Amino acid sequence: MPTFTLRVNGRSRTVDVESDVRVLWVLRDILGITGPKYGCGIGVCKACTSHINGRAFNPCSVRIGDITSTDEITTIEGLPATVGAELHPMQEAWLDADVSQCGYCQPGQIMAAVAAVAEVRARGTEISDDELDELRNVCRCGTYFRIREAIRDGAARMADQG
Ligand code: FES
Ligand code: FES
Repeated sequence: MPTFTLRVNGRSRTVDVESDVRVLWVLRDILGITGPKYGCGIGVCKACTSHINGRAFNPCSVRIGDITSTDEITTIEGLPATVGAELHPMQEAWLDADVSQCGYCQPGQIMAAVAAVAEVRARGTEISDDELDELRNVCRCGTYFRIREAIRDGAARMADQG
């Protein structure tokens, strides 16, 4: 089998796997990084949402063969290190809003929220209601109201951090 080298949460990792294996299975089953959750496997539920080069992506829908050794993949496990803290400000906002119910969708929700807020901040704007509506991460427990509150609070905390 071919080998692939990828960077995950600041570390370079080499895996021996077929090129069409999806990144989610590389992360979860080979590297033991289980924060990204498996829900649908076809890019719909967004439970696996992580970051690639700072942007949200769904590793269930990307082949390992399409990842380059310079791509920076970040999962929920590596999110705090991106701000050099024990928790990312979005995670702190999440805890304060007591968002989580069963918790299954929550890593993907937080990763999607951080990427969306970072994107609008890069444009010099704040996240709007329409942009919040565009976040399509499914929550079977229906925590959507608290998610929106937490994203707004998390965005303010991210702005405070500069
Ligand atoms: S498991 Fe990746 S989008 Fe559903
Ligand atoms: S908290 Fe249970 S699926 Fe979202």
